[in-house]
Parts: sequence; C-alpha cells; structure tokens
Amino acid sequence: MRKKVSIIGSGNVGATTALFALQSGIADVVLLDIVEGIPQGKALDMAEACPLWDISSEIKGTNDYADTAGSDIIVITAGFPRKPGMSRSDLLHANANVVKASCREIAKSSPNAIIIVVTNPMDVMAQLAWKTTEFSCKRVMGMGGILDASRLTSFISWELQVAPEDIEALVLGGHGDDMIPLSRFTSVKGIPLTELMPKRKIESLIERTKKGGAEIVHLLQTGSAYYAPAAATFHMIKAILLDEKRLLPCSAYLNGEYGVRDLYMGVPVIIGKDGIEKIIEVKLSREEKTRFRKSSSSVRRLIKILSI
Ligand code: NAI
Ligand code: 2OP
Repeated sequence: MRKKVSIIGSGNVGATTALFALQSGIADVVLLDIVEGIPQGKALDMAEACPLWDISSEIKGTNDYADTAGSDIIVITAGFPRKPGMSRSDLLHANANVVKASCREIAKSSPNAIIIVVTNPMDVMAQLAWKTTEFSCKRVMGMGGILDASRLTSFISWELQVAPEDIEALVLGGHGDDMIPLSRFTSVKGIPLTELMPKRKIESLIERTKKGGAEIVHLLQTGSAYYAPAAATFHMIKAILLDEKRLLPCSAYLNGEYGVRDLYMGVPVIIGKDGIEKIIEVKLSREEKTRFRKSSSSVRRLIKILSI
C-alpha cells in the first residue's frame, strides 16, 4: 500500500508541495483547503498529468478532513502569506487560529501522522501544532532551515561558480529575521568557506539569506516564495517516507538542547520514518550562542503573546 500524504492549504506552497510529492510517485496525496473548488480543481489538474509522468499515484482534492484520515504525513501550509512590508510575525494571530483549528481535526482523523508545519511564523506554529495535537514532539516538526540553507547554497554556488551539490550550508535558529546562517559550518567539498571567499563577501551572502524571503515578497508583491519552500518541504517528506536518516536543519522541540527549554527552534536533526529521530547538538562559539539566544527570544516572545 502506498503511503498517504495530506496537505492542508492548497495555495501556492501547498499545491506545489502536492505536485512534487505526487510526481515523485512515493505517496498518494490529499489536498485540502477551506475554499471549495480550489483543492478539487488543482488535484484534478495534477491527476490528469500523471499518465504523462508514468506514475500511478493518486491525488484527491477536498474540503473534508475525513478524506485525510489515516495519513502518514500531514503538511500544514494553511493560512496567510506575507505581503510587502510584513514580517513573518505579523501573521501571528490569523495563522494561529487556522493552525489550531486544523490541528484539532488532524488529531482526530490522523492520530499517528507526522506533522510538518510550514505556515508562518513557523517555529511558533510548530509549537502550537504540538500543543494542540498532543502528539509526541518527535512527530511534529517545522520546515525553515532547509529552505534557508538552500538559499545560502544557491548564493555561494553563483558566487564561486561551483556546483551546488558540492556545497554544505547550515542555518540554525528560528525561521525569522534572527535566523543564524553559520559560515563556520559551511564548506565546499570540505573546504571551509572562509578559505574560498573574503569575509565581507560571506557576510553579504549571509545578509541576503536572512532577507531571502523578503526579497521574493518584494518581487512578487502578491505573496511569498513557494517553489523553493515546496522543494524543501518535499525533502522532509521524502526523508520520512523513505526512512533516509538525513541530517537536516528543521524546527524541533528543544528541551534543554542548545541551552533552550520548551521551545521549537531550528537545529540539525536526523529525520527518518519515526520523524525527528535525533537532535544533533553542535558546540557553538560564544558569539553563535548569543545569536541563538536572541533568535530563541524572538520565537518565545510570540509564543507568550499566544499564551501557548
Ligand atoms: P497561499 O495564500 O497561497 O495559500 C494558503 C492557503 O491556505 C489558501 O489556499 C487558503 O484558502 C488556505 N486556508 C486558509 N485558511 C484555511 C483553513 N482554515 N483551512 C484550510 N485552508 C485554509 O499562501 P502560501 O504562499 O501557500 O503560504 C502558506 C503559508 O506558508 C504562509 O503562512 C506562508 O508565510 C508560509 N510559508 C512558510 C515558509 C517556511 O519556510 N516555513 C515558506 C513559504 C511560505
Ligand atoms: C520564506 O522564507 C515566506 O517564510 C517564507 O520565503
């Protein structure tokens, strides 16, 4: 029997993630939205492409959580994206209501699912999803660091004219303005980035990474990025369904790791069939620790506003 992936929210990120998951052939997909017709229309359109991809996976569009029942993975993309001038945290209250309502349904219909939270402000929404579903924290995680690291990798690749697959980049912290792209853990085929690029250039690429989401919002004017976010989300789906044991930066529940307690934050984790199978704790320098604390304070401030 094929695995089942349900995607809540059939907008830009949700539908594109559905497309990547369906096209991979590794799962059947359910696409859900509150708006009638949209998930059904997008799912039908994708289903009609399957013969051209030679795959027999199925996709269903729906407004009813009953169709998502028994999902192996649920991806939450429902809510509202940023508009120009907005930060991710401006979406707090509107998206919290959506995520909470969605999680109540998920807990009833797919009690054994692994949840990947995408909706912003993502680390806060991941914590809300975990609290609302009461699932094990191993089965609730957020997508952010993979996207941010992919952006940094792209910028390094363009600058050095080197293949992106030879670049390893790591971005920790909350998926927000205080994210922490770590040049110390970024290398090209094992060669530290600092050996290949002047410090000032590295700093400018790090700044571009931190503003990577806003750069796209500014260009699109009507919403935020979705192709790279969907690719990053599919990366996590694949790591779980194929039990790949990938080491990826994801938002995970910290309970003492990195000196942080009771908070979702982006850290390196091993992802496999059980969800977050291990949190990898790397030793941070004093300056990196300060940045990590600052980033965690930003996430905690929003958690307090929501009284989660
Ligand atoms: P979008 O506006 O294209 O899609 C959102 C969809 O959610 C819409 O189709 C809307 O009808 C649906 N929706 C709203 N309320 C709902 C409810 N109660 N139940 C079910 N569906 C509901 O937005 P987009 O671009 O897909 O972004 C989605 C979210 O993902 C935003 O919050 C955005 O900021 C976030 N995001 C997070 C990223 C990350 O790295 N964590 C990257 C990109 C986007
Ligand atoms: C991004 O980084 C909006 O969080 C989203 O593109």
